Amino acid sequence: MIKKGIILAGGKGTRMSPLTKAVNKHLLPIYDKPLIYYPLSILMLSGIKDILIIVNKNELDQYKKIIPNGNNLGVKIRYAVQNQPRGLPEAFIIGEKFIGKSSVALILGDNFFYGQSLSKTLLRCTKTKTGAKVLLHRVSNPEKYGVAKVLRNKIINIKEKPKKFFSFFAITGLYFFDNKVINYAKKLKPSKRGELEIVDLLNVYKKKNKLAMDLIGRGGAWLDTGSIKDFYKTSSFVSAIENRQGLKIACLEEIALNNKWISKNEIIKAVKFYGNCEYSNYLKKIISKNN
Ligand code: TTP
Repeated sequence: MIKKGIILAGGKGTRMSPLTKAVNKHLLPIYDKPLIYYPLSILMLSGIKDILIIVNKNELDQYKKIIPNGNNLGVKIRYAVQNQPRGLPEAFIIGEKFIGKSSVALILGDNFFYGQSLSKTLLRCTKTKTGAKVLLHRVSNPEKYGVAKVLRNKIINIKEKPKKFFSFFAITGLYFFDNKVINYAKKLKPSKRGELEIVDLLNVYKKKNKLAMDLIGRGGAWLDTGSIKDFYKTSSFVSAIENRQGLKIACLEEIALNNKWISKNEIIKAVKFYGNCEYSNYLKKIISKNN
């Protein structure tokens, strides 16, 4: 079982400037909570309790205000700093000590996942023992993403932002790796844009026949939050679902309670921490239901 996870929450967020000039993108709201709650909820739904959040220099204090150390969620959260956005695989170099001898999941801080039986898919992915596993999702605009060509449930080719049509399956920002990933990441060379590329890392696994895939089917959503338009579309999606169902997406305390990682007491403390707000009202409802 994969028990460790990294959230990559640095980056410049240039496409969302001026919003991101003073505040990091991952602290901006997707509807009623900061973006960072969503990838964190995905790791928690995967059963991962040991988490490293990688952030930009000088931004650590802001993150710690909202997610201090995980005690309140029954998880262990540590932070590390990335000095420059030198690419996704750098997460494994920065996180080498944290990963130790374990396997590890990586989620990009700005990726949003939602859908029926997602938790089941996630738990299946954390069973990856050797090699790497990626989650694919069909999109209408594959030219914007890293894309995988699939034949009989196997990835036969990968390309970054292909100009000519290649496949509808985008590689989402959630990956599961065995411990070899640290060494493979260290051996990568920066691309023309000066970054270590995740596609190059995945290709190392593919060449060794060690790259597996799982699908987020059409009952699931993987949404982008990279541009302002997409950011607000994701926000509207969350608002529509939450208001229709009366249930929250990515309520971290609710997930922790369901996982039996915390008790009602922590929820009461969380209500005090958040203060008089709609999120607190939701938390109060959860514990009255669980009485
Ligand atoms: P990107 O969308 O590639 O970059 P960005 O978020 O800085 O946005 P922009 O393109 O507008 O400048 O990053 C995807 C996610 O990965 C995002 O959550 C930020 C994170 N990231 C890092 O933390 N470090 C990195 O080196 C890179 C490349 C991305």
